[in-house]
This record gives sequence, structure tokens and C-alpha cells, in this order.
Amino acid sequence: MPPFAGDLAADVDMLLAAHHRTITREHVPRVAAEAVTLARRSGVDPEAARTAALLHDMGGIVPRADMVGLCETLGICIGPEERQVPMLLHAKLSVVLAQERYGVSDPAVLQAIRFHTTLHAEPSPLDLVVFLADKLEWDQGGVPPYHAPLRAALHDGLDAGARWMLTWMATPAARLLIAHPDLRSAWAAFGITAPA
Ligand SMILES: [Fe+2]
Ligand SMILES: [Fe+2]
Repeated sequence: MPPFAGDLAADVDMLLAAHHRTITREHVPRVAAEAVTLARRSGVDPEAARTAALLHDMGGIVPRADMVGLCETLGICIGPEERQVPMLLHAKLSVVLAQERYGVSDPAVLQAIRFHTTLHAEPSPLDLVVFLADKLEWDQGGVPPYHAPLRAALHDGLDAGARWMLTWMATPAARLLIAHPDLRSAWAAFGITAPA
């Protein structure tokens, strides 16, 4: 499939609006801008960062109640944690939309979309950029409680920022519904003790 020839940001906005995803619609351009800034500062391809950031939450257009069924239909592997908290599947569905609607074939971009919520054991710099941009420009309203210390940690680079963020995600303040196995892998890789 050829890459999407139109205005990616405009199409994403249109699709999110059509599905009444008001919060995501406001969140995505902020994440894209932050991802481009982090990418430029870190020697990561800004265009790849922008594409991944614009598409990272597109799976959210699928109603939560339909996520498991759609993933089963598409042959996407579903873990027990994802059956318990289906919203965790939105990243996998974003990958499908990136491929099928927008013709994205770059495995690096698809990987960054896939792991934007949790990271994984061996994240690339692009994975870190999209993960951190998503956390800095979160979709929970207002400024995240960790914003200033995360920014400070990022002065020492993407790895330091990711370590700080992952450490925070292991605290009760993160109020995780469940620890996805990919997040557990990331904690292990960064030497962070996972919550019991
Ligand atoms: Fe997300
Ligand atoms: Fe997001």
C-alpha cells in the first residue's frame, strides 16, 4: 500500500472528530509537536516521530467494548491483561490503522506506535521519543503531576527521561489498572523494581 498522500494531521483530526474523540483530538497534535521537539534534540528523525505521534492513539476510535472482538477478527494476539483492560489494545489497533489506512510500512514507526503506552525491553530512541511525548502531553487534563521532574530528567537525555518515567509508573501515584507484560519487561530492562 502506498503511503498516505494527503495531509496526515488533517485526516487524523477529521477521523477523530467523526468518532467524537474530543480529548484525543486535542491530545494528538500536542504529542506530535512534543515528539518533533524531542526528536530534533535527540538526533531522531523528526518526520518519523511526527508520523508515529499523529497515529499513536488512532486505535482509540474503536469503541472499548469492541476492541477484543475486533482484535480477534484481525488475528491480533491478545494477552490476559489486555482481555482484562481492553483499552490496552488501542496501541495494537493503531498499528493496524497506520498500515491499512495510511500505508505506513516503516517498522520503526510501527514499533513506536505499538509500544507508546508501555515501552518494552529494548526501546529505540524513536520509541522513547513517542513514549515520552505521550506522557509529557498526557490526555488526562491539565499538566501531569510529574511534568517538571520528567522535564528535568530529560536534560540528561532520552534514556534518563524514560528511566524517570518508568520509575514513576511503578509507584502508587501512577494508579495503573494493570501492569502490561511489556511494561514489566521495560521495568526489568531499566533495573526498576516492579510493584507487587
Ligand atoms: Fe495511547
Ligand atoms: Fe496518547
